[in-house]
Amino acid sequence: MFSRIARPAAAAAAGLGRGLATTAQNNAKVAVLGASGGIGQPLSLLLKNSPLVSRLSLYDIAHTPGVAADLSHIETRAHVKGFLGPEQLPECLKGCNVVVIPAGVPRKPGMTRDDLFNTNASIVASLTSACAKHCPEAMICIISNPVNSTIPITSEIFKKHGVYNPNRIFGVTTLDIIRANTFVAELKGLDPARVSVPVIGGHAGKTIIPLISQCTPKVDFPQDQLEKLTGRIQEAGTEVVKAKAGAGSATLSMAYAGARFVFSLVDAMNGKEGVIECSFVRSEETESPYFSTPLLLGKNGIEKNLGIGKISPFEEKMIAEAMSELKASIKKGEEFAKNFK
Ligand SMILES: NC(=O)c1ccc[n+]([C@@H]2O[C@H](COP(=O)([O-])OP(=O)(O)OC[C@H]3O[C@@H](n4cnc5c(N)ncnc54)[C@H](O)[C@@H]3O)[C@@H](O)[C@H]2O)c1
Repeated sequence: MFSRIARPAAAAAAGLGRGLATTAQNNAKVAVLGASGGIGQPLSLLLKNSPLVSRLSLYDIAHTPGVAADLSHIETRAHVKGFLGPEQLPECLKGCNVVVIPAGVPRKPGMTRDDLFNTNASIVASLTSACAKHCPEAMICIISNPVNSTIPITSEIFKKHGVYNPNRIFGVTTLDIIRANTFVAELKGLDPARVSVPVIGGHAGKTIIPLISQCTPKVDFPQDQLEKLTGRIQEAGTEVVKAKAGAGSATLSMAYAGARFVFSLVDAMNGKEGVIECSFVRSEETESPYFSTPLLLGKNGIEKNLGIGKISPFEEKMIAEAMSELKASIKKGEEFAKNFK
């Protein structure tokens, strides 16, 4: 039996990947789409620094020649190549095992993630159409917001191309887990690297549901403090958007989170056992057709959905309250994809 408390990739991300999986093939071919952006650049740096990656393909509509030239001088084995503009996208994607997508506009103060829908929905739909055509077997990791809609969009696009596999399409919610771990550690005076809080549901406001009752080590908070902590985790992205005052949203912590997720996925693809991450995926765990829960990862993506597990009445109430927003965001994404040409 594997443990729900595992922190499979935190060490990899914290140690920038060095020294892990020495017996594995370490030949992951990873593409980053939106590689020149605030998330794309530091994420590409972390991936370049990992011995798990042998080829790093960087795509964007701007600046990739420079970003690729810069990263290619780092003394690690991943071969880096930049690809610029839609005509170079097919070449970028050919042979990739993992595609990470942080392309799209970020929030400015006062905006919700859903306010990004009009711009980012078409960006994600066109990039994932290219993935469905040129690397249909790859693991697709979507960072672009609103994640609650961009994952349904990706699924519908893959269905349109007849290559849909729900075990290979992931909404990256890892930043919510990282924030929950950090905030709990701060409050309890613990080492954050040893704290593990599953965060389920979706990736926007009230749909972000931290399961503090399942935290390891076990922690207890009075109800008022628990509510404050939960609210801070749900609004942590907005905390960064406000602090950046118009210069964007979380980029560095998101790059760390994205790298952690990719390292977990690649470790599992390489045959490492017991790798667990939460991610927003196609799901039958609740009445919402997509939902994030802890997932056991394996060679072919999701090996087993570990489900919600035992939760408190407070957490049950949060799930019930998230349902209508989640379902509406999912429907919006599905409708968009159906009409996308
Ligand atoms: N999942 C999460 O937890 C999380 C956290 C933070 C931010 N985000 C989201 O990530 C996205 C990127 O944020 P950022 O701060 O890096 O933004 P950014 O504006 O700094 O970078 C976005 C990059 O995407 C590129 N791009 C735009 N259209 C493209 C296209 N059609 N093809 C390829 N590249 C394209 C831009 O040129 C730019 O380099 C936003 O949607 C943001 O909301 C998600």
